[in-house]
Amino acid sequence: MTTQNLSNKSLDQIYKKISSVVPEIEWKFHAPLIDKINKLKKEKDAVILAHNYQTPEIYHGVADISADSLALALEAAKTKAGIIVLCGVHFMAETAKLMNPNKKVLIPDMYAGCSLAESITGEDVRMLKEKYPGIPVVSYVNTSAEVKAESDVCCTSANAVKVVESLGSDKVIFLPDHYLANYVQKNTKVKIISWQGTCMVHEKFTGKEIEDIKKENPGIEIIAHPECPPDVISASDFAGSTSSMVKYVKKNQPKKVLLVTECTMSDNVQVENPNVQFIKPCNLCPHMKKITLNKVYSCLKNESNEIKISHNIAEMARKSVLRMAEIGR
Ligand code: 13P
Ligand code: SF4
Repeated sequence: MTTQNLSNKSLDQIYKKISSVVPEIEWKFHAPLIDKINKLKKEKDAVILAHNYQTPEIYHGVADISADSLALALEAAKTKAGIIVLCGVHFMAETAKLMNPNKKVLIPDMYAGCSLAESITGEDVRMLKEKYPGIPVVSYVNTSAEVKAESDVCCTSANAVKVVESLGSDKVIFLPDHYLANYVQKNTKVKIISWQGTCMVHEKFTGKEIEDIKKENPGIEIIAHPECPPDVISASDFAGSTSSMVKYVKKNQPKKVLLVTECTMSDNVQVENPNVQFIKPCNLCPHMKKITLNKVYSCLKNESNEIKISHNIAEMARKSVLRMAEIGR
């Protein structure tokens, strides 16, 4: 998790930090917006929580906290600010609202979705529960509030195994990510019943591609997100949530590294680890990239794109996310 106090940082200081990954010509457009957003945040008592896949000008320029989805949920629960602007995808903003229902939660683009969240509905979960009566349901946080409402508990890639094992059941329905389910199955004795959802970004990586990169870059360390296919994870030195990947690089300072995940994250981590060389095959998440400084500014200025969840769904879904928060990382 990266926490920054932007109030005493000048625009020049911000640009100095990200100049290796943001060209000067682009900075000319970003700088005035960054200035306006940071002033508006103070005026409106708002906090900006950003996912690790956000662009460097958001991650380093306006976000108070940048983190993985678990930390964003936990930070949303404890913030004292009146408004939360969630720079990430819709399920992350919904989770923030579930964690802290009295806050106004805004998302800069309502259409920032997720292929995993879209792969399953509440009706699908009800069907699974009928098919496997009595088996608890763990839903990945990358799901709609409606799916969370039908689940016993949520998890993220940072705590999936721990959450599954916390249930004390010998079988668990784990949805919707088939590859994350596969990763959990390799790390637990609990029998996992999975769903066929996939992440449109991570499913593109192949074991062959990783092996080729290793041959071309002797000594490179490969760090993968557990949403990747199993052959990619087997070819990697470490697998973990986006924040665990950031921590791995900070701690181990590999000479050369490949982060097998959404490629903007490499830019964000590179800024803080100038001695590490990043190899970047670029798979972008089109949903995460819907969030821009312009949209952050207008949603905060107009307090638009507020997350609303119907009362009944929110009450049930909240139980699942709070249970996840109790289990922790
Ligand atoms: P993290 O919880 O690891 O940040 O992952 C969220 C996500 O959407 C990865 O694609
Ligand atoms: Fe969803 Fe994949 Fe984008 Fe993450 S990277 S938000 S899992 S589509």
